[in-house]
Amino acid sequence: MSFNIAIDGPAGAGKSTIAKKIAKRLGYIYVDTGAMYRAMALYLLRENVEPSETDKISAKCSEADISIGYENGEQVVYLNGENVNGLIRTEEVGNMASASSPNPDVRRKLVELQQKLAESKDVVMDGRDIGTCVLPHAQVKVYLTANSRVRAERRYKELTDKGVPCDLDKIEKDIIERDHQDMTREISPLMQAEDATLVDSSYMTIDEVADAIISLI
Ligand code: DC
Repeated sequence: MSFNIAIDGPAGAGKSTIAKKIAKRLGYIYVDTGAMYRAMALYLLRENVEPSETDKISAKCSEADISIGYENGEQVVYLNGENVNGLIRTEEVGNMASASSPNPDVRRKLVELQQKLAESKDVVMDGRDIGTCVLPHAQVKVYLTANSRVRAERRYKELTDKGVPCDLDKIEKDIIERDHQDMTREISPLMQAEDATLVDSSYMTIDEVADAIISLI
């Protein structure tokens, strides 16, 4: 039987950094489910679908073949055979992913893919609904969060390091709005699974968080 670790939480809590680190330490596969929603969003944008066109999203999503692989130890997402890793981290794709991920047809397709991956392999999977919907029987479940100011400061640092001008208060406001959207959506809202351990990373280092999660195993 495979061993599954589920990490859920809001944007900016450090899920991918932590999940990657834990996967490396344990020799497990890291699965970034957000990247799959982003690849789907890229396909929809290329097909000129608007975020508000629900029926079109349902119809078009069946045409997108999304799969993942690993190159040099990094997860690579393929959209109809094309490596799209370098194209999915834009604001435009993120906004489309946020608009299209509540669609039940999109979710059905990607959840099935995620469940298949975890069935045969030891994985650390991060997302919004992993502990609650995708892997309800995961052996370890973590709800990783941090307060909105800390998450905004992390994002601010990331952007200013890249030379992108930005405003801390505006970033925090956007984070609070996105949390609200993710937590109140009808299908698979972001929430802590009953059997998940809450880890608040606000005042912890990356290594402290990774150690805390590994100690749960
Ligand atoms: O974690 P991220 O920013 O890469 O996620 C992109 C979008 O996909 C985000 O709006 C939330 C959504 N998502 C989801 O609905 N379920 C998941 N398991 C992962 C991401």
